Amino acid sequence: MKVLVTGGAGFIGSHVAEYLIQYGHETVIVDNFQTGKKNFVPLQAKLIEMDINSPMLETVIALEKPEIVIHLAAQIDVAVSIKDPIYDAEQNIVATIRLLDYCQKYHVKKVIFSSSCAVYGETEDSSITESFPVNPLSFYGLSKATSEKYIQLTSTLQQLPYTILRYANVYGPRQSIIGEGGVVSVFFGKMLNGETPVIFGDGEQTRDFVYVKDVAQANLLAINKGDNEIINIGTDTKTSVNELLSKIMSISSVQIAPITMPAREGDIQHSRLDNTKAFTVLGWKPSFDIQTGLEETFSYYKVISEYQKGVD
Ligand SMILES: NC(=O)c1ccc[n+]([C@@H]2O[C@H](COP(=O)([O-])OP(=O)(O)OC[C@H]3O[C@@H](n4cnc5c(N)ncnc54)[C@H](O)[C@@H]3O)[C@@H](O)[C@H]2O)c1
Repeated sequence: MKVLVTGGAGFIGSHVAEYLIQYGHETVIVDNFQTGKKNFVPLQAKLIEMDINSPMLETVIALEKPEIVIHLAAQIDVAVSIKDPIYDAEQNIVATIRLLDYCQKYHVKKVIFSSSCAVYGETEDSSITESFPVNPLSFYGLSKATSEKYIQLTSTLQQLPYTILRYANVYGPRQSIIGEGGVVSVFFGKMLNGETPVIFGDGEQTRDFVYVKDVAQANLLAINKGDNEIINIGTDTKTSVNELLSKIMSISSVQIAPITMPAREGDIQHSRLDNTKAFTVLGWKPSFDIQTGLEETFSYYKVISEYQKGVD
């Protein structure tokens, strides 16, 4: 199938593009390199450097005629969303509405949307199903929740099928140091540079860390399954930030005591996603446990760090 991936030069998008190509899909990427990188894009993908807010996006969709659109391009920084909610809404809500309009106009068969566990807001220290109330604590979470509603109403009014994937904290190779799962890349960066890691709050806040290759696989499965469904993509396993740091220290064989700072605005205390629906609807379950995923991630950052030290 022909698949257009917005944000395909980014952390998750580039892994999605790799899987698409591996499974024989013709892949077109639209990215403005806000945070993404040209060298993340697989050579076999067609790369169009463009802001998704550009009116030229309509021409791209009209000419490329993708059957599937996987929409990942977004402003992903919670802190930015709180500082500048208008910018966040333009990037995450208005750009999504425009994209949906083009998709229905040019007969795209399905939109797959990258949403987030941030839509749930504060939860108990328990596993959250998709029916848990949506009550975001940041404008980023609100922009994802609002986009979900636009996608659902567009589907009802204009028969544009969708699958909404609500990711837990994604981590893995190519992640930048911002974003929801960024703590993994930040900690590995600190260890490899011999710097002191910072823990916000008491470090007992827990997250559900899902490996990026598993997230890419979920997107691939959603091409043919899960029409008009909202689906959690997580491991249903909790790891505290303190536990994460100790795993990262052990994997990187570096021990540096962290310093602590006050908890950040908009950060949730606990987050863990029930993934029963992902299995029943998509046939998806995570293939990587946190230890394996972290080891693979460390190998990537080690190579990058050694290369950079060689260049400096
Ligand atoms: N990383 C996580 O833990 C996580 C969790 C939940 C949801 N998500 C969602 O997954 C998606 C991908 O996130 P990521 O972590 O890979 O982030 P990322 O920043 O690496 O990827 C976003 C990509 O979109 C591009 N982009 C941003 N604004 C654009 C614009 N206006 N026009 C064109 N391209 C633009 C960036 O250059 C980048 O390549 C996002 O929608 C994010 O909200 C991520």
